[in-house]
Amino acid sequence: MVLQGKTALVTGGSSGIGLAAARMLRDNGARVAITGRSGEKLAHAVAELGGDVLAIEADVSSLEELRLANGKIRETFGSLDILFANAGVALGTPLATTDEATYHRIMDVNVKGVFFTVQAMLPLMREAGSIVLNTSWLNQVGTPGRAILSASKAAVRSFARTMSAELLDRKIRVNAVSPGSIETPIHRGSNQSEEEFRSYADRVGTQVPLGRMGRPEEIAAAVLFLASDASSYMLGAEIVVDGGRSEL
Ligand SMILES: NC(=O)c1ccc[n+]([C@@H]2O[C@H](COP(=O)([O-])OP(=O)(O)OC[C@H]3O[C@@H](n4cnc5c(N)ncnc54)[C@H](OP(=O)(O)O)[C@@H]3O)[C@@H](O)[C@H]2O)c1
Repeated sequence: MVLQGKTALVTGGSSGIGLAAARMLRDNGARVAITGRSGEKLAHAVAELGGDVLAIEADVSSLEELRLANGKIRETFGSLDILFANAGVALGTPLATTDEATYHRIMDVNVKGVFFTVQAMLPLMREAGSIVLNTSWLNQVGTPGRAILSASKAAVRSFARTMSAELLDRKIRVNAVSPGSIETPIHRGSNQSEEEFRSYADRVGTQVPLGRMGRPEEIAAAVLFLASDASSYMLGAEIVVDGGRSEL
């Protein structure tokens, strides 16, 4: 229970990595709030987590909704010790065919959303708090058809450094976690059967030195470490959890 007495916000906590992180932070003693756009997904997540979380409908690309989320957290928790800025989208963006709307959709959530999430929650953050940003192994690797997604995640990687430098006086540490290919709904097509997804996951697994996609809990474990005092000497840094894909 390394987070006993602490409070945490996980954006995009209704699914995938965010949901696994919310569970792990909660199971380690933190009071946890989660956000997402869909009320239905949030309700499912709350049920899965056993009801013991504060669920807030809020789109990270809307400054007004972030302001309202701040109000709800202030009302319920009073302050925050931990922020996991996790909400994000992943869309292919081939150079030849990507339109402007897709560019804005990715940048609005992945870059603007992270920047203004931190800005909106900072007044609630206690001294010596921990902010964890979710980037991606793609922030340092060139893969075709992913220029905008990869650039958005490189911007988030950079935020961990600049925000840490800016928040030194408040002793708030900002670090990043970089997942590889993790089995979450972000990889699922809307009409994809379980069998089709398994065959996709197996194909991706062959590109990973460990031979499989990762599990959301394997990212949540890194988030727990960065959120806790166990990582007290880390700031502006990145933990890559990608089965060796970007290193071997
Ligand atoms: N899975 C991977 O392989 C992988 C690899 C590298 C990085 N990541 C990063 O990990 C993060 C989580 O992804 P995931 O794989 O866990 O995907 P996921 O299962 O699709 O979860 C995404 C979460 O973000 C929320 N969300 C999306 N857009 C939002 C917005 N505008 N405002 C607020 N919440 C929003 C979603 O809820 P609503 O749809 O209801 O809003 C959902 O809770 C993302 O930043 C992603 O880029 C994932």
